[in-house]
Amino acid sequence: MYSFVDCRKSFAFSSSANLGSGFDILSVAHDAFFDEVEACISSDGVKVSMVGNHETIPEDPLRNSAGFAIVSLMKDYGIKEGITLKIRKGVPAGLGLGSSGASAAAAVASVNSLLSLDLTKDSMVKYSMLGEGAVAGSPHPDNVAASIFGGFVAVLGERTVNLKVNYSDLKFILFIPSVASNDKTKKARELVPKMVETASYVKNMRYGFSLVLGLERGDRDLIRQGLNDEIVEKARLPMFPYYPKLKEIALSGNAIGSCVSGAGPSIIVFTDGETDVNLIESEGRKLMESMGYSVNVKEAKIGGGVRVE
Ligand code: HSE
Repeated sequence: MYSFVDCRKSFAFSSSANLGSGFDILSVAHDAFFDEVEACISSDGVKVSMVGNHETIPEDPLRNSAGFAIVSLMKDYGIKEGITLKIRKGVPAGLGLGSSGASAAAAVASVNSLLSLDLTKDSMVKYSMLGEGAVAGSPHPDNVAASIFGGFVAVLGERTVNLKVNYSDLKFILFIPSVASNDKTKKARELVPKMVETASYVKNMRYGFSLVLGLERGDRDLIRQGLNDEIVEKARLPMFPYYPKLKEIALSGNAIGSCVSGAGPSIIVFTDGETDVNLIESEGRKLMESMGYSVNVKEAKIGGGVRVE
């Protein structure tokens, strides 16, 4: 049987998924925000309690990414004890920053430790992504994989691998418009085309390889080319009409590149020592405000994996 302690607390970083063409495959954890989830043994079933500022995130475990992940995990492992999850949100929800993924990842890490389940990181991704399905309509593994593994990740079926990154001064600027909505990812996923032209597929393969190899070689031109997408970003463009101009501003300030963060509406800009960060931040903010969006501009670095206290 398990050796129980009463409670365990974990912390998981925010993330930006897709990174151009890597829809549901590529992602990066960043230290912009983090969620904290404490799991405690309780009487029966799974209970979710949102503490602090949490906007409108449901506490019904079947409609909460962390709750649903733990319900699935307990079912598979035949766990009869009850678990209460106390979720303190740091990652703003509905903005493409891996908020539901961070909660699910931290919840699974806490329960794993609490019940001494010895889950591998890949198993943690499996259960956390089921939690994503409860919120986004279909499970997607990219955000949870970044929050669990840390750094840049590629989710390759049932395995996640960390990408090699040889780029010491790589940082990010996040443009975060205040237009969060709970069912945004679900709607954004409905816009993804079911079929694509071969020419778009070829371009996207080129972008994906460029990004992975560019990060490994520290080659900013390859990374810049890699941060593009011919298929998903294009289909979702009406959801973030400021993006093409914002990308122009980023490139005019010599950013490495930029892309939509996950399903948007946030945008992530990759920067290094050659980038005019001040220009990009002020011109980008001006642009978005001129289009009627109030925007939070936040700088971040690559984040680590989920941490159990
Ligand atoms: N890959 C997912 C999507 C990420 O783009 O729908 C959601 O944050």
